[in-house]
Amino acid sequence: MSQATNQSWGGRFSEPTDAFVARFTASVNFDQRLARQDIQGSIAHATMLARVGVLTEDERDAIINGLTEIQGEIERGEFQWSVPLEDVHMNIEARLTDKIGITGKKLHTGRSRNDQVATDIRLFMRDEIDVIEAELTRLRDGMITLAEREADTIMPGFTHLQTAQPVTFGHHLLAWQEMLARDHERLLDCRKRVNVMPLGSAALAGTTYPIDRHVTAELLGFVRPSENSLDAVSDRDFAIEFTSFASILLMHLSRMSEELVLWTSAQFNFIDLPDRFCTGSSIMPQKKNPDVPELVRGKTGRVYGHLMALLTLMKSQPLAYNKDNQEDKEPLFDAVDTVRDCLKAFADMVPAIEPKKDSMYEAARRGFSTATDLADYLVRKGVAFRDAHEIVGLSVAYGLKSKKDLSEMTLEELQQFSAIIEQDVFEVLTLEGSVAARNHIGGTAPDQVRAAASRARDALKALQGAS
Ligand code: ARG
Repeated sequence: MSQATNQSWGGRFSEPTDAFVARFTASVNFDQRLARQDIQGSIAHATMLARVGVLTEDERDAIINGLTEIQGEIERGEFQWSVPLEDVHMNIEARLTDKIGITGKKLHTGRSRNDQVATDIRLFMRDEIDVIEAELTRLRDGMITLAEREADTIMPGFTHLQTAQPVTFGHHLLAWQEMLARDHERLLDCRKRVNVMPLGSAALAGTTYPIDRHVTAELLGFVRPSENSLDAVSDRDFAIEFTSFASILLMHLSRMSEELVLWTSAQFNFIDLPDRFCTGSSIMPQKKNPDVPELVRGKTGRVYGHLMALLTLMKSQPLAYNKDNQEDKEPLFDAVDTVRDCLKAFADMVPAIEPKKDSMYEAARRGFSTATDLADYLVRKGVAFRDAHEIVGLSVAYGLKSKKDLSEMTLEELQQFSAIIEQDVFEVLTLEGSVAARNHIGGTAPDQVRAAASRARDALKALQGAS
């Protein structure tokens, strides 16, 4: 057999693999990232094989010791990865045989790289989902705390990015938090379907050895073995689900980023971000740029790209395993890294947001944000809503001309537009009165924000440990 032919499957080949083809088909440069999970899966597989009598206890122990040593070599950076050995699986198996001899060749009994790689990715995803969940929890927690602190802080609320009605900053933050709460549920839902074990499906049809898949599943912490071997080695829908979760999350983070970028501008001037989250300009000495939110906004694109890549990768693949699936790893790894980093950036940054309350308040006072309150006031005094809308519209037109907010007009000025208006109108025209009046579940009143924050904290606690 030629040296250049992969030893694991070279038997039926009469000429060595073309050097380019070897490089083109190899995945070891990226799938070595699965080494820890590959060894974990192999140890469980060997343990199960000994339990059912396919391996002796001595063989099992030799395999486990060898694999444990290899794990150490990898962690210390001593392991020599070889491209001709194609992928992480065959690199580790070849090293095991180097170390322990012929027994190493028995590890692959009753399995295939097809069920092996599907298992490795699921173990990897489960680990990463848990890390991501912890960051998401930290972010939500920080956001709820900030919302509680800012329950009374008034800012303009916008529609069409035009001043609409006053809201509280705490309410705005809790809107973000709701988005993240749904993302959190999507993540945990995805984890349920990740946590199923393909091992034992072998190449595609199962194996003739008397394996016990429940034992392996339990050793690896999976909730159950997969139901169908053809499906288990081939589908990557769990990776698509994860990148779909990731895309929605990044879409949400990009919305928050956009607002942070706007709010730090001189034109809005609503918040300050501490210097450690910003950078300067090499040419304009006065600049302090909100790079972190900008970059999170920008990274959204690559995550959407990974979702498209995986959807397209899976599309039209006939059962069962196809080499196409080797292409699942790089998009998945990058999606995982991007989500982790963006969540870390946000979890560190959000508690450090410094609202410029005076400036927010001033902005809410400009732009006739209590116009709807005046209309509601007229309706309470018996005016039909459409007529009230008209009266307030005329008042606003007058305000624009005379450069006065509604609350700055005298009673006489307001009465030009409706004789029904009385002194008590000024209670509803203040920003405080306006937000306090929206006093129902889901409304912006400070008391509601405090209650909502407390419910959000309970909901967050209830999710923890749900996985
Ligand atoms: N490197 C392969 C992958 O990532 C492992 C499975 C290969 N199986 C095969 N029959 N060639 O999908």
